[in-house]
Amino acid sequence: MATVSSTAARGGMATGGGAGGGSGDAGKLLAKIESKRAVIGVVGLGYVGLPLVVEFARAGYKVLGFDVSERVVAGLKAGRSHIQDVPSDALAAHIAAGLFEPTTEMGRITECDVVSICVPTPLSKTRDPDVSYVVSATQSVAEAIRPGQLVVLESTTYPGTTRELMQPLLEASGLRVGEDFFLCFSPERVDPGNERWKTRNTPRVIGGITPTCLEVAVALYGRVMDTIVPVSSPEAAELTKLLENTFRSINIALVNEMAQASDRLGVDVWEVIDAAATKPFGFMKFVPGPGIGGHCIPLDPHYLAWKMRTLNYKTRMIELAGEINSEMPHFVVDKVQDALNAQRKALNGSRILLLGVAYKKDIDDVRESPALDVIKLLEEKGALVDYHDPFVAALRDEGELRGRPSVELTDTALRDGDCVVIVTDHTGIDYERVVRLAPLVVDTRNATRGLNSPNVVHLTDGHRALALPVA
Ligand SMILES: NC(=O)c1ccc[n+]([C@@H]2O[C@H](COP(=O)([O-])OP(=O)(O)OC[C@H]3O[C@@H](n4cnc5c(N)ncnc54)[C@H](O)[C@@H]3O)[C@@H](O)[C@H]2O)c1
Repeated sequence: MATVSSTAARGGMATGGGAGGGSGDAGKLLAKIESKRAVIGVVGLGYVGLPLVVEFARAGYKVLGFDVSERVVAGLKAGRSHIQDVPSDALAAHIAAGLFEPTTEMGRITECDVVSICVPTPLSKTRDPDVSYVVSATQSVAEAIRPGQLVVLESTTYPGTTRELMQPLLEASGLRVGEDFFLCFSPERVDPGNERWKTRNTPRVIGGITPTCLEVAVALYGRVMDTIVPVSSPEAAELTKLLENTFRSINIALVNEMAQASDRLGVDVWEVIDAAATKPFGFMKFVPGPGIGGHCIPLDPHYLAWKMRTLNYKTRMIELAGEINSEMPHFVVDKVQDALNAQRKALNGSRILLLGVAYKKDIDDVRESPALDVIKLLEEKGALVDYHDPFVAALRDEGELRGRPSVELTDTALRDGDCVVIVTDHTGIDYERVVRLAPLVVDTRNATRGLNSPNVVHLTDGHRALALPVA
């Protein structure tokens, strides 16, 4: 059983005797959870949903996995994982044991005792929340809902989504929350590629519409996750997730600003950050880079900013952090242009090889990756751009860049180009070889740290560009 954080007291959770959960539909659900007879439905089988499936199945629960994508479901049925952190053999073993069944038949939600919703929450073109996936998944649940079900939203979203958007859709069935069915928000905190912190050992925050809702969710997640952190409401849980990701966005923006300041001061920002990180208290290390990416940090703070606009409040720090972070690809392109200029070359017509298009190292996720902006900006200025990424064989859904393949990292590719730009510092790349063969390297991640090569320009030592050897 999981540790339940002491926040439970503040969360208003009944820890003994149950908050009315001992009888009726809640009692039956609790009994099923305890005896592992509860059937779990996971709606949305992506980066968040699939690891969750594996955890529920590992704990011995039967899981029905729902996805609208035929391609995703067909692959999973064949035992093939499309998520890097989920090994195909683990998936295949759960399928063979009858513990996991992927399906596109949303009507089968009625077979589930618990439904966990893990669908995307992107931004619209105007950078407002696009909750259409949450609405559509909730409607699928509403069409199949029956007494005694627990519904948990795990998608990141603005405070109020669970209560104001989902609850009315589900109650349109005639069932009442807290009595007939149970509704909670529990943010997924998965960090793709993180070897230490996984779905199971990352503490779980849960907020329920009623104390009984919270009680049944804590009972279930407590059997699957190591640590549970109950909070007093879905809004508190929704805002917790937004605070975490806004914290990252703002701190990354701060070091990105430091990088630009250091560049003008002629100071090595990496040295400064490492020195600051020796302070044993009151400082947390963040590193600069070419910008932010992934499905969380660039998007989630805008969910809060939007919600606050509806309440006539402007979240200034969120806006500013977004502005600084989104300027970084321009800063990188200026750096490349200056470095080429020092070698008496124009960016227009230069052959640029980008190393890494994933938004962070050792993963295959290119959503919102700053590399995509860097490619577009370089090409707008007439550069001829290729990329190499051992994790991304080709760009798939990236608009005008769709279909572009990763090129091989041959000696010729390194030698014959005009500049290599390190955008993602994947560990498998031999940076010593890159620096030895390429005429010019712009390193946005400090991947060439310690190599001390005269043909390398770091993110923050633009002043050195003038001293570059002319090729
Ligand atoms: N990726 C991360 O690192 C991460 C981390 C924490 C939280 N989150 C949050 O989790 C949520 C899901 O993100 P993700 O990265 O797993 O997305 P994803 O795109 O990897 O997966 C979502 C899946 O949902 C499916 N889907 C869409 N609409 C559906 C519907 N109506 N019914 C059933 N399936 C549907 C899609 O086909 C897709 O397979 C988002 O809110 C995201 O912000 C993501």
